[in-house]
Amino acid sequence: MRTRLAALALSVSLFGCGGGTSPVGPGFSAGAATDTCPSGDRWTSGNSESELMNPGLACRSCHLGNNFMGQNPGGGETAKAYFFMGTVFTSPHEENLCAPAAVPTDAVVEILDTNDVVQLTLSINSAGNFLSKSTLATVPVPYKARVKAGGKINAMGGAQSDGDCNTCHTVAGTGGAPGRVFFPQ
Ligand code: HEC
Ligand code: HEC
Repeated sequence: MRTRLAALALSVSLFGCGGGTSPVGPGFSAGAATDTCPSGDRWTSGNSESELMNPGLACRSCHLGNNFMGQNPGGGETAKAYFFMGTVFTSPHEENLCAPAAVPTDAVVEILDTNDVVQLTLSINSAGNFLSKSTLATVPVPYKARVKAGGKINAMGGAQSDGDCNTCHTVAGTGGAPGRVFFPQ
């Protein structure tokens, strides 16, 4: 918490804009911290083009023009429907659009084959979002996945075929997922 407040103070003094401006990046507003959004930093910019957009929502589904859980009443961005897309949260049940309080500097998402060989390493931005660079898988599917940070690992035991992580990793979790993809505790 102390670090968080310090970061907030720093960003306010650096950019001199304060007044609800979030340190996460453009498109976020600092608001009340709650159990389901401990950072209080929420994306408030709808579908404006940004890799920080819509943390927690089903990225690829919307980009493909699908309406997963009523998240996309219309539109899409097919050319950017990258195969692997999702969000890493601080804890397992955070609400849609909430950015993590802090992203460990060395945190990455690793995509592995079913022999546990790492095939792809994806960086995680300040909104917790990660994305691959191709609309094709480019790695063997089914794949496995894990989050690495601070020398610790949080791994998905099973293999999956759909790279749109947030369709299973919703607030409560669907298809047996425990909730969000989260940083190793
Ligand atoms: C409800 C629909 C919707 C969801 C959910 C969504 N996006 Fe988007 N995304 C869009 C649209 C529409 C655009 C194009 C916006 C434009 O052209 O102004 C876009 C554009 C982008 C871009 C291009 C940005 C650029 O600068 O070129 C990236 C990257 C992106 N989204 C990442 C994500 C990620 C990561 C997620 C999930 C955490 C996500 N999106 C969730 C609708 C969505
Ligand atoms: C079709 C559903 C589904 C999809 C898609 C999916 N997962 Fe999972 N995930 C699960 C299930 C079920 C579990 C719990 C059982 C297990 O570990 O296999 C899980 C557990 C995890 C865990 C450990 C617990 C947690 O919630 O953090 C991580 C990390 C994870 N998944 C990462 C990912 C990533 C990254 C992606 C996308 C590249 C992804 N998952 C896509 C179903 C899914």
